[in-house]
Amino acid sequence: MLNVSNVSRVFGKKAAVDRISFTVDKPGFVGIIGRSGAGKSTFLRMMNRLTDATSGQIFVDGTDILALKGAAKRAWQGQCAMIFQQFNLVPRMDVASNVMHGVLNRRSTLATMFNLWSEADITRALSILDRLGIAEQAPKRAEALSGGQQQRVAIARALMQDPKIILADEPIASLDPMNAQIVMDALHRIHTEDGRMVIANLHTLDTARRYCDRVIGMRDGRIVFDGTPDLLTTSAARDIYGADASFSEAATSTSIDTLPRDQNYATTLLGA
Ligand SMILES: Nc1ncnc2c1ncn2[C@@H]1O[C@H](COP(=O)(O)OP(=O)(O)OP(=O)(O)O)[C@@H](O)[C@H]1O
Ligand SMILES: [Mg+2]
Repeated sequence: MLNVSNVSRVFGKKAAVDRISFTVDKPGFVGIIGRSGAGKSTFLRMMNRLTDATSGQIFVDGTDILALKGAAKRAWQGQCAMIFQQFNLVPRMDVASNVMHGVLNRRSTLATMFNLWSEADITRALSILDRLGIAEQAPKRAEALSGGQQQRVAIARALMQDPKIILADEPIASLDPMNAQIVMDALHRIHTEDGRMVIANLHTLDTARRYCDRVIGMRDGRIVFDGTPDLLTTSAARDIYGADASFSEAATSTSIDTLPRDQNYATTLLGA
C-alpha cells in the first residue's frame, strides 16, 4: 500500500533525506528510529506534504502523493493525520472543540468561527474521546489536562479525520513512562482494531522493538536498517546510532519496558 521510491529532500547543500526507498505491503505499525538530524521528521513532513520533496515518489495505493496539487493534495492531507511531540492543541479551547478541529477542512469558515458544530460532529467527537478513555475531560480546557491526556486528545483529533495513515513525530518524547505507555497502547490499538497504518518516529529503541512490526533505521538521511524488531540487534543499533554515547542514550532513556503492555488497558486509562 506504501511505496517510497528514491525520495530526497535537500536543504542548501545538505541532503536531509537522501534517496530513501522502502515498501510496506499492508497497513503496518512502522517505527522510524535514528539519531537527531537523521531525517526522520523531514520524511514524515514529506509524507503529509508539509515539506516538498526535492525528488522521488511516494505511492500510496498506486497514487504518487508527492505529485498531488490543490484539492487533491488537501484531500490527501485529510487522509494522513499528524501527531506531534508537543500535542499542538489550542490550549484555551475545550477538549471536545479541539477534537472537532480534526474536521475543520470539511466545514465552512463561518461555522468554524462561531464554533457551530453539528450534532453528528459532537457525538462522534465524544465517542472517540470515550474510546480513548478521556470522555469526562470533554468540557475542560485542553491546557488543564496532563501531557498524556493531551496527547490522547491529539490522537482523538486525528481520528476525527478518519485517516488512512497516522503519522506520529516522537509522540511520547515529552511524556513520563506511564503516560508514554498509555499513548503508545492507544496508537497500537487504533492500528490493530481499525487497520490504520501508523508511522511513528521514535527516539527509544525499546519502544520501537515493543510496538512496531517494522523498524526503519535512518542515519544521515539514508536507510541503514529495515526489518522486523527481532533483527534489531545491538550491532544493528550501532549502525543506526553510531558507536558513541547517543546509542546508549537511545537504548536506555525513558524505558517503558518495565510496564506490562496492554494489560489492564481500560483500568490504566480510567485511572490516568
Ligand atoms: N527547514 C529546514 N531548513 C534547513 N535545514 C533543515 C530544515 N529542516 C531540517 N533541516 C535539516 O535536515 C536534517 C534532518 O532534520 P530532521 O528534523 O528531519 O531530523 P530528525 O531525524 O527528525 O531529528 P530529531 O531526532 O532531532 O527530531 C538536519 O540536519 C536538519 O538540520
Ligand atoms: Mg525530528
